[in-house]
Amino acid sequence: MKQDTLITTAGRDPENNYGIVNPPVYHASTIVAPTLEEFRERRKHRWEPGVFTYGRQGTPTHEAFEVAVAALLGGDRAVAMGSGLAAINAAMLAYLKSGDHVLMVDSAYGPARSFCDKFLGRFGVETTYYDPLIGAGIAELIQDNTKIVYTESPGSLTFEVQDIRAIADEAHKRGCVVIIDDTWSSGMFFKPFEHGVDVSVIAATKYIVGHSDVMMGVITTTDEQWQRIRQSASDLGANSGPDDIYLALRGLRTIGVRMRQHHINGLKLAKWLQARPEVVEVLHPGLPENPSHELWKRDFTGASGLFGVVLKPYRDEAFAAMLDGLKLFGMGASWGGFESLILLTDPASIRVATHDRWKDVGPTLRIHAGLEDADDLIEDLEKGFERLNANA
Ligand SMILES: Cc1ncc(COP(=O)(O)O)c(C=O)c1O
Repeated sequence: MKQDTLITTAGRDPENNYGIVNPPVYHASTIVAPTLEEFRERRKHRWEPGVFTYGRQGTPTHEAFEVAVAALLGGDRAVAMGSGLAAINAAMLAYLKSGDHVLMVDSAYGPARSFCDKFLGRFGVETTYYDPLIGAGIAELIQDNTKIVYTESPGSLTFEVQDIRAIADEAHKRGCVVIIDDTWSSGMFFKPFEHGVDVSVIAATKYIVGHSDVMMGVITTTDEQWQRIRQSASDLGANSGPDDIYLALRGLRTIGVRMRQHHINGLKLAKWLQARPEVVEVLHPGLPENPSHELWKRDFTGASGLFGVVLKPYRDEAFAAMLDGLKLFGMGASWGGFESLILLTDPASIRVATHDRWKDVGPTLRIHAGLEDADDLIEDLEKGFERLNANA
């Protein structure tokens, strides 16, 4: 089945729902069993498809969503979590104990780093950050106690594409699990399990929900990893609620068309920005000049709307004048919704393994190209640059 057909059909079961296209929203904490035997049977098989024991363990609404996400990513099973960060935490905690070691990509989402440094650090888990462009060189950093090689591709803020296949091959030789934060593509343009990934985490909050109104995460795994991941998700109890699950499933049904437009708008903005005199570099792997372009072309079939821009130095007042006056770009910490967003970022402030690469680089912007007309977005940015220059 082709991807667009999969997106619109996976997880649906109208035959068993009076012909109604979408699943009902089951509001459940208690789920009763008719007999003791049945109660025990359900407990025994509680993570198998079609078995429901308690609201926190999921309902048929959750299952419809999870089946659809697993199908989109090419994984075997998925479990929804209360946020993207909860998905990251549950996936990592499935494999770690005191004394273990994690290899974490230096371009990982900030709060995932903080979870490693502060939370896992308190429990005696050590984290080493590595260069996103390391490829097979990851082998040299793997220690006897390394349990996880954590990847995010393209990375947060600087958008390097990682050679996931090369990293996974080395990680597997030494018995490590490979986790990817695949939120940027959200299953659309990159198929993590074809590249050797064991566990994918996605902030469904972004493109899957797609409408800036729900927090949710989803972990997708191979059959081999499923029991550990599902146990960890269950132990942490950070499940998602029924109405949110319903909205996420509704969002997922249109992710194909939305992502294609994000791709078009993002690249149009990126190319326009490249030609601006205020811009030093546009950090978008879809641009031929980008160092990650070849890898992106090899492994990805498209781009989302999120990318970075390195600017020449300006006074803070000039940035404020530029950003405060934008009409179509909101200043918000999230992305992946239908609307455009812009943020002033500072990669150097959190980088360790690649600090030298970023320490002298000018101020950077993170832009999310939404679904507005790209020409209107360009006009808004053009006026923004006029204000930047007027206040330089
Ligand atoms: C790449 C990436 N991963 C994970 C998350 C976390 O998702 P959530 O905000 O749903 O916890 C974010 C949020 O911005 C993100 O950008």
